[in-house]
Amino acid sequence: MSILFTPINLGNIQIKNRFIHSATHEVMASETGEVTDDLVKRYRNLAKGEVGLIIPGYMYIHPLGRPYKYSTGIHSDAMIPGLRRMVQAVHEEGGKIVFQMVHAGRQTTKALIGQTPIGPSSTGRDPINFVKPKEMRMDEIQRVIQAFGIAANRAVEAGADGIQLHAAHGYLINQFLSPFFNHRKDEWGGSDANRFRFLKEVILGVRRALPQGMPVLVKLNTNDYTPREGITPSLAVTYAKWLSDLGINGLEISCGSAVYSFMNMCRGDVPVKELVGSLPFWKKPLGKLMMKRMVGKYGLEEGYNLEAAKMIKPVLGKIPLLVVGGFRRVAQMNEALEKRHADGISMCRPFIREPLIVKKIREGKAEVVACVSCNRCLAAVQNNMPVHCYVKGFPAL
Ligand SMILES: Cc1cc2nc3c(=O)[nH]c(=O)nc-3n(C[C@H](O)[C@H](O)[C@H](O)COP(=O)(O)O)c2cc1C
Ligand code: SF4
Repeated sequence: MSILFTPINLGNIQIKNRFIHSATHEVMASETGEVTDDLVKRYRNLAKGEVGLIIPGYMYIHPLGRPYKYSTGIHSDAMIPGLRRMVQAVHEEGGKIVFQMVHAGRQTTKALIGQTPIGPSSTGRDPINFVKPKEMRMDEIQRVIQAFGIAANRAVEAGADGIQLHAAHGYLINQFLSPFFNHRKDEWGGSDANRFRFLKEVILGVRRALPQGMPVLVKLNTNDYTPREGITPSLAVTYAKWLSDLGINGLEISCGSAVYSFMNMCRGDVPVKELVGSLPFWKKPLGKLMMKRMVGKYGLEEGYNLEAAKMIKPVLGKIPLLVVGGFRRVAQMNEALEKRHADGISMCRPFIREPLIVKKIREGKAEVVACVSCNRCLAAVQNNMPVHCYVKGFPAL
């Protein structure tokens, strides 16, 4: 039997194979963050497709951390009944489900949250939303840490099998970890250990909120690809070691940031027309120029976070390492596990195109996934359109 179909433990849960549905923002929640029938259907279907572990799209833990208009919320108790429905659907089909928790920090807009977005420091203006964030005060930092704990409690109430902290892709935790975003001189910045403090406190907080053994996973960047140095592979190794000392139950590694380097996060084609369509009219000319310059520079490299995985795996000890990014051929997935570069294969876009791909692989009916990394699904969510495979064309914008 292929190693891909052997079980693995994450904390006190066992997943039946090594396939993980990496968090995928669906643009399917209601405008107030509630789970909808479309979301329940999506995850029931993926569970039917035999995915070992399902991590749905990120869930914002506080109203000020809301990343997009139709993102799922876990910021209030009113969200729990909907979240519970989603969990039940996955469990009924024999799957396991872990909630990814996010605070967007500076990676959102005033229009969406009603005030200037917050971040560790008030430096820079990003190139997409032009946000210059407000530096968080100490009491605001403490409140966000508490909010993660309270949200973790809601995940328990909803019946989730575990939680994942989104510390990648330029969101708030990543902002604290990164010397590019974090210029603080107090105990929350100024050294690697201080920049790590926010994630550490969030982990300690959620641990207190969760029952013993319930898995806490972390999604971490191994390279921020920001204009000036952020998290680099060697810094990621340091952070991974500290995460292992904290006893997390699994680390998923990724790269890139949604605002500064989204094409590193999702290597493949640059769908210029579709991405430009998401911009307000006054940003379109410059946006088009920028996107056109990017064409051809981010071709898909299979398993593009595997080199970083090789550096990180040795410091993790027994903690499972899940790797996302560009897995497309079954032989390559097998090899990554056989050679012990990783313990689990995480995928996002392949599941958008083929929710039943794991079952097909198990039945020997697929050697390669059908996703061609055209990135129109990524452009769709930028346009506030629900996530589907748009390889055959995009609706008129
Ligand atoms: C439409 C779309 C939505 C995404 N939403 C999230 C998300 O909510 N949380 C997250 O950590 N990553 C998100 N990602 C990134 C993916 O989880 C993954 O890291 C990336 O797509 C690379 O993996 P792949 O080559 O298997 O697609 C998203 C990617 C896409 C294309
Ligand atoms: S639109 Fe379809 S083929 Fe293109 S990247 Fe997304 S899932 Fe893959």
